[in-house]
Amino acid sequence: MLLPTALLALIGLLHPSLAYAPLSDDTLQQLPSPGDDFDIHKGAILAPILRTRVSGTPGNAQVLQHFIDFFEKHLPHWEITLHNSTSTTPVSNGKEIAFVNFIATRDPPGSKVGEVARLALAAHYDSKLTPHGFIGATDSAAPCAMILHAARSIDMALTKKWESAEGADDLELEEQRGVQILLLDGEEAFKVWTDDDSLYGARALASHWESLPHPTLSTYRTPLDSISLFMLLDLLGSSSPNVPSYFRTTHWAYKHMADLETRLRKLGAFKSSPNHPTKFAKRKAKNPKAKPRAEQPFLVDANKGNNEFYGGFVQDDHVPFMARGVEILHMIPTPFPRVWHELDDDGEHLDMDTVEDWTRLVTAFVAEWMELEGFFDFKEGKRKDEYVATGKSEL
Ligand SMILES: *[C@@H]1O[C@H](CO)[C@@H](O)[C@H](O)[C@H]1NC(C)=O
Ligand SMILES: [Zn+2]
Repeated sequence: MLLPTALLALIGLLHPSLAYAPLSDDTLQQLPSPGDDFDIHKGAILAPILRTRVSGTPGNAQVLQHFIDFFEKHLPHWEITLHNSTSTTPVSNGKEIAFVNFIATRDPPGSKVGEVARLALAAHYDSKLTPHGFIGATDSAAPCAMILHAARSIDMALTKKWESAEGADDLELEEQRGVQILLLDGEEAFKVWTDDDSLYGARALASHWESLPHPTLSTYRTPLDSISLFMLLDLLGSSSPNVPSYFRTTHWAYKHMADLETRLRKLGAFKSSPNHPTKFAKRKAKNPKAKPRAEQPFLVDANKGNNEFYGGFVQDDHVPFMARGVEILHMIPTPFPRVWHELDDDGEHLDMDTVEDWTRLVTAFVAEWMELEGFFDFKEGKRKDEYVATGKSEL
């Protein structure tokens, strides 16, 4: 039986979080890789973040400016907001330190505030005060870079999708979905992690948004309520991460991500896989009888049962949002990377294949969430530097 389209649209409206459409194999394989933009010394996206950027210092302000410049140059359709707050810290001698969250939002054209459900992609951009000179490449320079690349990769497809909707009526009937990027300040403790010395930016933002009402009768009461899923990336970029599913209520989303990982590995589009075509070819050249090796998934909990969630989780920027009822998907490995809070958590110690794989995974997840299959134009979207990067990886 075929349901009338209006009814289908209504079902979509009643179950906004269930809308999710897989990408084709073709699209998955062609999603643009960051290429030279992730070069740790001169890459346009990653290199400017790989520096000390302690909250309230010039380094922090320069990284914030990098985000602003990136969006103004490449992503003019996104609305940029800075959320400012101040707080003393255990080492500020009573002085107020400024924390600035960077927020970029892309909603469907003509949509009304309070009517859009948003997928939020979050990472923190500040770095830890100690050890002196700490870079925090996995914590969380690389996750910030992943998010910037994902936003740029889906931007044109979003435009095409929204242009293709036949007039405002279609968009109005369809559940309205947007994407929001939260690059948060002040995640790290200045001294020792406590409730008061950590999550400065996230705590201020969650509290501000909770008390910022949308117009009366809005579908979503506040900007917090508008977040359908808060996906937080942290401590990503070391090899062989082991990322559990932390929350029962978002395990369905975790499973979508795990499916994507499995598919990307099967398609030979996962660079850190021992069976990636380039690596497998090398083994074959040495030993013609070489067999594929077992895959070690990043997302280890795809088959976790409903009653296997015991409530353990990692303290991070999601906490003040979760406390206010926001649904969380936390992409953080357990155990933490070996370099965690060590001086050698720097660009040189990133595993770039793993960084690229996370980037592709996150990009694909956002594309499926936003139902972008059929709206990518890889020829048009292809940048010159990608040809260079692809050429290199073939060697
Ligand atoms: C927030 O802080 C930034 C960076 O210091 C500053 O440029 C901006 O004007 C501030 N915004 C508001 C509304 O105070
Ligand atoms: Zn940290």
